[in-house]
Amino acid sequence: MSDLSRFGVSAEEELLQNFDRLIAAQGYANRSEALRDLMRDAIVKSRLEDAPEAGEVLGSLTLVYDHHASDLADKMNALQHDYFNFIVSVLHVHISHDDCMEVIVLRGKIKQVRTLADAILSLKGVKHGKLFVTLPAGAIVEHKHRHSHKN
Ligand code: NI
Repeated sequence: MSDLSRFGVSAEEELLQNFDRLIAAQGYANRSEALRDLMRDAIVKSRLEDAPEAGEVLGSLTLVYDHHASDLADKMNALQHDYFNFIVSVLHVHISHDDCMEVIVLRGKIKQVRTLADAILSLKGVKHGKLFVTLPAGAIVEHKHRHSHKN
């Protein structure tokens, strides 16, 4: 881990109490790690919005669909083959007689990842789904500042 800096934060007592209750319920041992996670989340969000073409993103598309729906399985299969080089892995679970759940792990430029996700989600028979996008850990925080490499 890089050098740690400490900083003080002023907040209303009630806000702090609410925050502490929330992060305790979420399992955080202290405010610092909770704040770091919030900071990283804000940075990832801003990076994805501001520089949509830059670099590689990671995504997971989770969806539930009825595999009896007309030719959905064929279309799903065709799309996944069209975009095979952006698909890292697919987890398929038969959750009931009719329904399937799929988690598709994606890797590529944001545009390709979103295009594939939209194409799959808009297929008839897909009941619900959501794309989660993040960045590789090394791409979240820029290392622009002075680094005195002592070898
Ligand atoms: Ni299935």
